[in-house]
Amino acid sequence: MKRRLPKYKDLRPLMNFKAPEFDAKKRRLQSALTISDLRDIAKRRTPRAAFDYTEGAAEAEISLARARQAFEDIEFTPSILRDVSKVDMTSEVLGGPVAMPFGIAPTGFTRMMQSEGEIAGAGAAAAAGIPFALSTMGTTAIEDVKAVNPNGRNWFQLYMWKDRDRSMALVDRAAAAGFDTLLVTVDVPVAGARLRDKRNGFSIPPQLTAGTVINAIPRPEWWVNFLTTEPLAFASLDRWSGTVGELLDTMFDPTVTFDDLAWIKDQWPGKLVVKGVQNVDDAKRLASMGVDGITLSNHGGRQLDRAPIPFHLLPEVVREVGMDTEVHLDTGIMSGADIVASVALGARFTMIGRAYLYGLMAGGREGVDRTIEILGDQIARTMRLLGVSTLEELTPKHVTQLERLVPRPRA
Ligand SMILES: Cc1cc2nc3c(=O)[nH]c(=O)nc-3n(C[C@H](O)[C@H](O)[C@H](O)COP(=O)(O)O)c2cc1C
Repeated sequence: MKRRLPKYKDLRPLMNFKAPEFDAKKRRLQSALTISDLRDIAKRRTPRAAFDYTEGAAEAEISLARARQAFEDIEFTPSILRDVSKVDMTSEVLGGPVAMPFGIAPTGFTRMMQSEGEIAGAGAAAAAGIPFALSTMGTTAIEDVKAVNPNGRNWFQLYMWKDRDRSMALVDRAAAAGFDTLLVTVDVPVAGARLRDKRNGFSIPPQLTAGTVINAIPRPEWWVNFLTTEPLAFASLDRWSGTVGELLDTMFDPTVTFDDLAWIKDQWPGKLVVKGVQNVDDAKRLASMGVDGITLSNHGGRQLDRAPIPFHLLPEVVREVGMDTEVHLDTGIMSGADIVASVALGARFTMIGRAYLYGLMAGGREGVDRTIEILGDQIARTMRLLGVSTLEELTPKHVTQLERLVPRPRA
């Protein structure tokens, strides 16, 4: 082998020194290439009890694990030699435009995960042109969400009570603030058993015990933010004088039925979506009531454990009710490919819970922006690689569900 000294002109093209990024948060967020990467950052920066409250699910967490497994167990079938120089991820959902086929799911206690809470979520959703859903148990007021997302789509999630005055008080405020859609969550007749929270001795607000103080030492920013911002409160509920435990007991009303749903539907001026549908018969009944949409969801695995996998329900539900009713889906979405697969099997729209909260915990507003950016890039790239340039071109032919978790036919 004959050697020679390298010449500058040979080295030049190899030299690619980037200006260093001095902003630590930007550096951190740019280093995250997937939602799992954001999750790892979030875990390092958030006290354990708050992180586990977010990440955990009910009982043995089988519902959530299976929902994620089902997404992993799909096989895509691409088409070749299509012009995919441009991709269009926009669509119309519940009578309005969305820039991408996902929105931010309603989550309670959001300011506990990171102090910017719903303001970060709604601001990021506004910038990206996707809907933001505020929970009844949200920690930012309906009107404040509207203020950060004044021209975009705001949805309000209702935990319905038999006490119609209380339900109405909330719904009226959301309507007055111009929220266009009501999501009525129906999978919480009682709270699911979140064992991580029990084991962590989790409480709201977090208590300063010896354990939490030690856990706080490597996470100073969270505590500084927590202690120097408005105390946690359910901003949409009128003054609550009891404990949080008592509030939760009244929040979930096990006596609510289809009649109550019909009543609320009559009161609400906008679009109505029922969130937490888990079988075909219920989907049909809701469609016959004339609801605008249903969300196939098991609440991110936080309620019934061993619940049906929403992604598996999708084809049959779409076949039965999809002509009259929009079918949406959540639970387990960790990548843009999960969203593309859901759209291919007929979901009009999807929602992200933890994927959003991991971004929030990793870096507040910019962290949520990063979540949306990662998912958007993954959706666009997956569509291109499948050979489609619009969402309408996605069909069930693009997705095969591999067999591992598919239910056996009933005898
Ligand atoms: C921390 C947390 C709080 C939640 N709070 C609510 C809530 O107040 N109301 C509601 O309808 N759903 C709530 N959900 C469920 C989400 O709206 C959504 O259905 C679920 O997170 C989707 O699953 P994913 O987290 O795997 O995306 C919550 C989920 C999480 C993770």
